[in-house]
Amino acid sequence: MTTQSEDNNVGRRGFLKRVIMGAGLILGYGTGASYAIQFLLPRKRKAKFRKMLVASLSELPPNGSKSFKDLSGREMILVNSDAGLKAISTTCTHLGCKAYWEADNDRFFCPCHDGVFDVNGQVVSGPPPRPLDSYDVEVDENDNVFVLLLEG
Ligand code: FES
Repeated sequence: MTTQSEDNNVGRRGFLKRVIMGAGLILGYGTGASYAIQFLLPRKRKAKFRKMLVASLSELPPNGSKSFKDLSGREMILVNSDAGLKAISTTCTHLGCKAYWEADNDRFFCPCHDGVFDVNGQVVSGPPPRPLDSYDVEVDENDNVFVLLLEG
């Protein structure tokens, strides 16, 4: 025969066990649901750019250019054309040969298979399947020329 006090203790213990089990289930399923939502609906990440000081405007007369390398060592060229300042990768999009800026012809030329690109890097003729990679350019109040490179 149990007393009233023992019945209350068993009842409290049972209730406490159920509360703890319920909290554990909620935490477990909640964590799982959180991961499932992150997997199904990934957050959009903003692209991060890094400004790289490449030249001063005084180094770039009209139709002038300056070669430089980005942070990962890819060769690029900064061109001061009639269309403005352009930062273009010199890696041809066909098979990766080096394209050259031809100031007299206002174009990029890849000698490997006669690929021709305009000053914006758009394909004019030849086998390249897409434009040369191009990057935004900014000039500050002190005439410093920066290229905005995508951080990888
Ligand atoms: S690699 Fe440049 S045109 Fe073929």
